[in-house]
Amino acid sequence: MLEKFSNWKSKAEQEKKDEPIRLDNVPKHVAIIMDGNGRWAKKRGLPRIAGHREGMNVINKMVRQANSLGVEVLTLYAFSTENWKRPKNEVDFLMRLPERYLSVELPKLIEENVKVRLMGCKDSLPTHTIKAVDNAIEKTKENTGLILNFALNYGSRDEIVTAIQAIATKVAEGKINPSDVSNTLVSEHLMTSELRDPDLLIRTSGEIRLSNFMLWQLAYTEFWFTDVLWPDFTEQHFLEAVNVYQQRTRRYGGI
Ligand code: IPE
Ligand code: IPE
Ligand code: MG
Repeated sequence: MLEKFSNWKSKAEQEKKDEPIRLDNVPKHVAIIMDGNGRWAKKRGLPRIAGHREGMNVINKMVRQANSLGVEVLTLYAFSTENWKRPKNEVDFLMRLPERYLSVELPKLIEENVKVRLMGCKDSLPTHTIKAVDNAIEKTKENTGLILNFALNYGSRDEIVTAIQAIATKVAEGKINPSDVSNTLVSEHLMTSELRDPDLLIRTSGEIRLSNFMLWQLAYTEFWFTDVLWPDFTEQHFLEAVNVYQQRTRRYGGI
């Protein structure tokens, strides 16, 4: 009996057949919680950082895939504000990943018209990490294709607190009235101010939680969870998620 309720998929969804992807209904903003690198490594008797290295290679595939499908924004959760709790050697390795990734991939991203963007608190990131990301942002700033939004040292609660502080300051200074605070105004004070809300959220590794990710922005997003560990995630899995998305009915509270 318990088993029946432990699956996150509805019965109808489990029985649905794969349909061909409809290019007129591709999620415009896809957000991914890339989870399971550590477990992938552990299963192979490797150190956790080997999982992160492998996971980095999957990013390329997803960028190409998103771009070819016509996705407009791909947000990737790479490091949370809570991930500082990890052992120093792991954190150091993760902080080197952006420059490793970009030193190889930036020329391709430039050529493929991808625009790199950062979402997260820059203050506590090491200088070498910021330098690599800033360089990529600068070199791709004129690009008009896929927006590749890296969530690095990102935490949704911190983001909301910062927005509230900024709004409260404006109220205290008399620049706006409390009654001017609206959904739109709050959205404009978040790190995603110029992005649309995600249409599809993917989380790998079998964890069914948000782990402090985009709490405000995910209000009406479709969720898709998979047991697949991030380093094993393929284009086919991405298509499966899009497929399920296309079979959902988004009602936004309507009928
Ligand atoms: C996701 O994989 C990557 C980051 C959080 C940086 P994990 O490192 O969380 O892998 P697991 O969850 O321990 O398997
Ligand atoms: C979420 O994964 C953060 C990233 C994928 C970057 P975690 O592995 O940190 O999440 P918890 O700790 O299992 O909730
Ligand atoms: Mg994890």
